[in-house]
Amino acid sequence: MSDTTENHPGRDFQAATRYERRTLGGHRLDWDRRPSSFKTYEGATSVPLPPPSIEGPAGGLWEAIARRRSVRSFAGEPLTLQELSQLLWASAGATHIAPNHLYRAAPSAGGLYPIETYVAVRAVDDLDAGIYHYRVAGVEREANGPGERVFPAQGHALEQIGTLDLSAPLAEAALDQGMVARAAAVFVWTAVYERSRWKYRERAYRYVYLDAGHMAAQLSLAAAALGLGSCQIGAFYDSEVDTLLGVDGVDEGTVYLSAVGRPAHPRQDA
Ligand SMILES: Cc1cc2nc3c(=O)[nH]c(=O)nc-3n(C[C@H](O)[C@H](O)[C@H](O)COP(=O)(O)O)c2cc1C
Repeated sequence: MSDTTENHPGRDFQAATRYERRTLGGHRLDWDRRPSSFKTYEGATSVPLPPPSIEGPAGGLWEAIARRRSVRSFAGEPLTLQELSQLLWASAGATHIAPNHLYRAAPSAGGLYPIETYVAVRAVDDLDAGIYHYRVAGVEREANGPGERVFPAQGHALEQIGTLDLSAPLAEAALDQGMVARAAAVFVWTAVYERSRWKYRERAYRYVYLDAGHMAAQLSLAAAALGLGSCQIGAFYDSEVDTLLGVDGVDEGTVYLSAVGRPAHPRQDA
């Protein structure tokens, strides 16, 4: 279909978020207004996750890269809680703590970590179906001042924010892609825009997608390494997924999904 309008929002977005030598600079960071890189659901039932393993799978990274393929057909068997823990850690988890900063598994522009991870669970051993938010680490706000302290060793948990199995409505929201209903779990990544906008202003809108892409790539390789399958999903009705998560789509909005499960057809060369 030819474009008969003068509207080119994609092109406008690229133009509005360009860095140019003549215009860059002059933006002072307001440290008192720096947003937290952590979201927590106070009062939610918290499910501690088993610690991730850093033992490498046979064949390691190169084999995972060679084996990774988008998998859209899943067997009925559930994931184990250990597998889900490993996938969460590999894509969004804490890997290094430095004074005042917690580094995570995937790169993030400025280390601001604007992406939140939610998991719609359909079939995971020892975990009720429902919708969960991934708590990367324990966070404690300091009583005096804007600072916060993180406790990665005590953190790493799922916060249950809903008890309904969302696999069917999520599949509908993802343009009726059946794999979403059949997946054992669906990762949903949202962007909390202000975390990145605080520093990068309009450029932030590019960075949140790059950040989410890194996380999804790491999830896809971790899944391949565990003999699981995943498919990354960019096609969904934004407001429908936002509503299922309970986010407003403005300050926090869905950017990307991944369906995960045991492949129905394990690869012949596996
Ligand atoms: C940004 C992005 C969005 C995607 N969205 C979908 C989607 O909505 N549905 C789907 O079936 N696959 C989706 N995919 C998967 C691609 O179709 C798949 O990666 C591509 O066909 C290459 O196959 P491979 O992943 O097995 O290498 C998406 C991939 C990316 C990177």
